[in-house]
Amino acid sequence: YRNLRVALLGGGSVGAQVARLLLEHGEELANRVGASLELVGILVRDLDAERTVDLPRELFTTDAETLILGADVVIELMGGIEPARSYILMAINSGADVVTANKALLATHGPELFAAAAQVGAQLNYEAAVAGAIPIVRPLRDSLGGDQVNRILGIVNGTTNFILDRMDVEGDTLEDALRLATELGYAEADPTADIEGFDAAQKAAILASLAFHTTVPLESVHREGITAITPAQIESARKAGYVVKLLAICERLVDPETGLPGVSARVYPAMVHRNHPLAAVHGGNNAVFVEAEAAGSLMFYGAGAGGVETASAVLGDLVSLARRHIAGGPGVATSTHADLPVLDIGSIATRYA
Ligand code: NAP
Ligand code: HSE
Repeated sequence: YRNLRVALLGGGSVGAQVARLLLEHGEELANRVGASLELVGILVRDLDAERTVDLPRELFTTDAETLILGADVVIELMGGIEPARSYILMAINSGADVVTANKALLATHGPELFAAAAQVGAQLNYEAAVAGAIPIVRPLRDSLGGDQVNRILGIVNGTTNFILDRMDVEGDTLEDALRLATELGYAEADPTADIEGFDAAQKAAILASLAFHTTVPLESVHREGITAITPAQIESARKAGYVVKLLAICERLVDPETGLPGVSARVYPAMVHRNHPLAAVHGGNNAVFVEAEAAGSLMFYGAGAGGVETASAVLGDLVSLARRHIAGGPGVATSTHADLPVLDIGSIATRYA
């Protein structure tokens, strides 16, 4: 095996779970990738902080430069713009490939980072930046890359979906529901980013850029949060057969004034009919409903937030990138389960919940 040195920048909700899974499943991942993935360090601010996940203390460091320059792959899970941006550029320029879940950074500095990666042939993967565990970045970029996406309706913020759901189903106040969402690890460090729609707007900018093969700057995304939503509005929506959801809407449009084609990305609380599949998205879940010319309507659904769930998407990015790194091109999956027998169990009457 070759050995790939993996540096983790950030050991918080997501980073600690990525580290745990890497350590627990290292051997199996090595078989899948064709190289061992050695976790060489975890960058944090406070070496003495209490950690919820039990990880070897010797992995933690505050020395960013040594960690980054000694890695083949850098996973950025710190959040925020700086120093995350500078660290990612340092990694790319040192020849490392990068994985990030940082939607705030990608929505504001994406073009700069992608250009830097392209210039040196580095990979920059970011599946976890939109909708947590749900595969949506690669499906839009790759699987639907030959189709024409016309519209996306997304519930892309778990915190606000959780809050609106609790207000609708349990009668919670916004404040109580936000407290719970924070305890569950859904909310951003500053939850204003969630409830005022900034987080969803960042994701809308990323989704619209991917879907429409263009750059949609964050400043051009219309944004409204959920702080003005009252229990009375939720109640009257319910009586009318609707549910209030914070939607990210990305669509191809014709400019009513010029008649020229363009695209639009908007985030605001919208009334969704209770028969629409998006109305059934509860709790911290997310869903992205995609309407494409040839494929028709598709819905991607699952956990939109949470440390371990998001870690799944990060590790998927790592495995994909590591395979390419090893192969020097688009790598292929190697079989790991040759020793597992295929069971002939016929048909079993099973109830799938
Ligand atoms: P978090 O719990 O706040 O963890 C951040 C980690 O980064 C902490 O370990 C912190 O160190 C470290 N860190 C922050 N600034 C640093 C600096 N200047 N130098 C060194 N270390 C620094 O964040 P998170 O929830 O894991 O989120 C990480 C990223 O994933 C963010 O971009 C977030 O938007 C994205 N994301 C999160 C979720 C989710 O559900 N949480 C889902 C999707 C995407 P200390 O531990 O010492 O404070
Ligand atoms: N705060 C974000 C959310 C985390 O609630 O969706 C996942 O990006």
